[in-house]
Amino acid sequence: MNAIEITGMYKQFTGKRMTKVDALKGLDLTIAAGEVFGFLGPNGAGKSTTIKLVMGLLRPTSGRAQIMGMDSCQAESRRHVGYLPENPAFYDYLSAEEYIAFVGSQFRMDKVLLTQRSEEVFKRLDLWEARKRPIRGYSKGMVQRVGLAQALVHDPDVYILDEPMSGLDPIGRSLVKDIILDLRIRGKCVFFSTHITDDVEKVCDRVGVINKGQLLVVESVETILQRGLEGYTVFLTNPDGKKEELFVKKAELQKCIEQSVILHQSVEKIEPCRKNMETFFLEIVAQQ
Ligand SMILES: Nc1ncnc2c1ncn2[C@@H]1O[C@H](COP(=O)(O)OP(=O)(O)OP(=O)(O)O)[C@@H](O)[C@H]1O
Ligand SMILES: [Mg+2]
Repeated sequence: MNAIEITGMYKQFTGKRMTKVDALKGLDLTIAAGEVFGFLGPNGAGKSTTIKLVMGLLRPTSGRAQIMGMDSCQAESRRHVGYLPENPAFYDYLSAEEYIAFVGSQFRMDKVLLTQRSEEVFKRLDLWEARKRPIRGYSKGMVQRVGLAQALVHDPDVYILDEPMSGLDPIGRSLVKDIILDLRIRGKCVFFSTHITDDVEKVCDRVGVINKGQLLVVESVETILQRGLEGYTVFLTNPDGKKEELFVKKAELQKCIEQSVILHQSVEKIEPCRKNMETFFLEIVAQQ
């Protein structure tokens, strides 16, 4: 079964003075169970709109979304979803511990399991020390961590995260990447938006690029990186000990190695030179 299915999704907003904004123009996208999918797009592309529609927080102008085979208009479809909104805001007079207890009760978690899972997520997200303080005293990054904690605590099968690395320091960002990789190992489905290409390259199975409400491409990360392979840098040491660095095209690697044997050079290292995800993303968006 597909974890998320979006079919012919169209969303038009009516702004001030009846101006119309076509935020999504017929989106079709399927995310498999157990897949980590990165939803890339520049500001205003339609990422959060898509996510809100999938979560049933917005009504589509036309089209529909399903989570685990259930229409996303049905509250039941969200039972197995961990959701991180774009700008998480909580009852800030509560402490993180109280808020997570409230979330756990909404998901009807067993009390013993809730205590155990809360401890796990607080420790993982480095909120353990702060857990008894009211959220109103938290920094931006700490609030984002509470957002992640409430998405993780009930151990759902599907995670829908709107810019999970946003507002986090480099340690926090790396932590979130590790958490997503762990979820991937455990066979969970993660659908997350970002405009940071490096995040996608490290953790995703597939990537979708959206711009101006249109899905421009959906590709596996492996295919993108493989296609972007331009050649290799070969690090050599000459018989006199002098180091040399050569750039060789993809098709010329074999010839280069044969040549180095003839010249009695030793090959120290071969590094692939490839276009990264950032170049791929910029090229796709620029083509539109
Ligand atoms: N409630 C709303 N009313 C009117 N227009 C809206 C509303 N919400 C979103 N939009 C418009 O829809 C388009 C897509 O917005 P969306 O928030 O989905 O972008 P995004 O890809 O999440 O961008 P960002 O990276 O900045 O978060 C934008 O043009 C935005 O102005
Ligand atoms: Mg957004």
